[in-house]
Amino acid sequence: MSEYSQRYEGFVRLIEERLTVTMDRLAAEISPYAKPLADAMRYSLLSGGKRLRPVLLLASHASVHEDVQAALPFAAGIEMIHTYSLIHDDLPCMDDDALRRGRPTNHMVFGEAVALLAGDALLNLAFEVMSASVHPHAPKALKAIASHSGSLGMIAGQTADMALSHQRPDRDKARYIHHHKTADLMTAAALGGLILAGATQRVLDAGERYGRHLGVAFQIVDDLLDLRGEVKTLGKETHKDQALGKITWPALVGEAQSEADADAEISLAMQAAAEVEGPGGFLGELARRTLKRVQ
Ligand code: IPE
Ligand code: IPE
Ligand code: MG
Ligand code: MG
Ligand code: MG
Repeated sequence: MSEYSQRYEGFVRLIEERLTVTMDRLAAEISPYAKPLADAMRYSLLSGGKRLRPVLLLASHASVHEDVQAALPFAAGIEMIHTYSLIHDDLPCMDDDALRRGRPTNHMVFGEAVALLAGDALLNLAFEVMSASVHPHAPKALKAIASHSGSLGMIAGQTADMALSHQRPDRDKARYIHHHKTADLMTAAALGGLILAGATQRVLDAGERYGRHLGVAFQIVDDLLDLRGEVKTLGKETHKDQALGKITWPALVGEAQSEADADAEISLAMQAAAEVEGPGGFLGELARRTLKRVQ
């Protein structure tokens, strides 16, 4: 295993451990009357996934300050926010998907009402675990995460994704959707880690640019994988976006130009990563690998 993969797996282990402990505690405390809620939260939160956003948070922290222990509640929190967004994204009123992370989607197993509530509860739990931190920079990190995932951030992007579907794609709309629905949570992760580590404003600005370019490229690749990916590897259905009339990058500029545009975004992300961690670091390598990802 490469040094990069070892480091990635090391972060994932820390994250999985923390998420498991949190779900065990919830299961022990919840009333039997509300047990389906804890089961549904656990089902989606502990179902694999790349754990990219919490890895970004821990790696960004580690680029300034190696001991990531104090950042773990925030890593867990950001994965809870991401997981809630996926549960809701898959609902019949949104993308109406039946497969996620290689398993039936939350609402297929628990029904729409519990799936909706499990998403709501994961969002609340995220802020509960993060706000329990006594870290001196916790309030600033919380604000960055809340604003990027909220009504001017990820949720705005998801709204535009739905509201603009079946409209003629243009660059401004596609950029807005990709920037907000996907890149904002990656920016939140990078900024969260850097803020907690006490990074300078110059580094925070570079972290923000890193998250945005990485996230836009990540979503362009996601759009390409919808056209060319393998259901088995991706763990989700393919060939959905066109049927739903989504504004995707390939719908805007075609597949070849989408590849070129993702490439250009990743170059910018790597430049920003070098300003955060120096050249040849983990964040830069993570960005480089995003272009070739198959899941
Ligand atoms: C899926 O995110 C949603 C998008 C922004 C495309 P990921 O591809 O990171 O999903 P998991 O967490 O690995 O399942
Ligand atoms: C989802 O984008 C982004 C969020 C959940 C915020 P997509 O709808 O393209 O993600 P997939 O393809 O279902 O994973
Ligand atoms: Mg969607
Ligand atoms: Mg979707
Ligand atoms: Mg998609």
